[in-house]
Parts: sequence; structure tokens; C-alpha cells
Amino acid sequence: MQTIGLPVKDDIKKRLRKLGAFIDKEAKGEDREGALMGALHQVQAEFGYISEEAMDFISRKLSVPTAHIYGMATFYNYFSLKPKARYQIQVCKGTACYVGGGARILSKLKKELGIEEGESTPDGLFGLGITRCLGCCGLSPVMQVNDETHVRMVPEKIPAILKKCRRAAEGKKSRGKKK
Ligand code: FES
Repeated sequence: MQTIGLPVKDDIKKRLRKLGAFIDKEAKGEDREGALMGALHQVQAEFGYISEEAMDFISRKLSVPTAHIYGMATFYNYFSLKPKARYQIQVCKGTACYVGGGARILSKLKKELGIEEGESTPDGLFGLGITRCLGCCGLSPVMQVNDETHVRMVPEKIPAILKKCRRAAEGKKSRGKKK
């Protein structure tokens, strides 16, 4: 998400204008459900989540009740109503991973991050969740950080993985400031 260099309110207004242009150009010709789906995808990609403000905006633009938009946004897993953490950590709780020590991985993560399953760190950097079998049971226990899969996990590996994420986030921040 690009917020650097613009006050947050101006940035949101700018992105809503972009969404409006998208709806006018791309989505309005389609049937209403198709247009709504396209708009929700655009919001998720642009803002990282579906805010109430964005739902109101789409509702006005497409003349669709917000309750219907809310229904669609909550029906599909792809959409999120809350800003997602930059790094989503998912610990596999499938049988092989559970037997192989997944619980120890989860408990180390909880301790390191100071959060429980389903929560995010206050800085928005890490989110912690559980996933079902990821299909690599022979390499259990397994966890994922965004799209990256870590296999044969041991709790001792966790601090270094978190450190790498923090460093990458810091790097992005300082590159952004130079702009
Ligand atoms: S049980 Fe974890 S990858 Fe299959």
C-alpha cells in the first residue's frame, strides 16, 4: 500500500477516486453482481481490506445496499474486513505436524510475538493463525510466513525468521522515506 508522502486522509480520498474511476470504466457495464465483485477485488488490492468507508462508497456508486456488500465481503475468504498484518504466520495443525511438534512451534510464536491465534501484533507487522494440512506432511512440522513455507521447524529457528521479517520491513520503510 502506498501512503508515503501523502497525508492519510488525502491518500484515502485519492484511492477512492481511483476506485470510482474503476467502477465507472470497468465495472459499470457488467451486471450488478459482477460490478460489485470487481469493485471489492479492487478495494482489497488497493487498501488491503474492505473498510466501511469503501463499502459506503461502492454502495453509492452502484446503488447496492451496504448490507448486501457486507454479505459478499464476509462470504469470500479472499476479502478481509480488517487490515491484515504484513506477515501472516500460519502454523499447520494437521495431524502429521501436530504429532511432529507443531504445538511447540505455535507456543514459541505466541511467546515471541506476545499474541494469541487470530491476533496481530500492535504494530501490524505479524498476524498469527492456524492452517490445515499444507500437503508437505513428510517435512513436518510446517509453518508459513505469507507465501513462504518453512519445513522441519523447531522453536529455535523462530527468532531468526521473525528478525528477517522485521529487517525486511525496516528496509522497506527506509527505502520509502528516501523517495
Ligand atoms: S499435516 Fe502439516 S503439512 Fe500435512
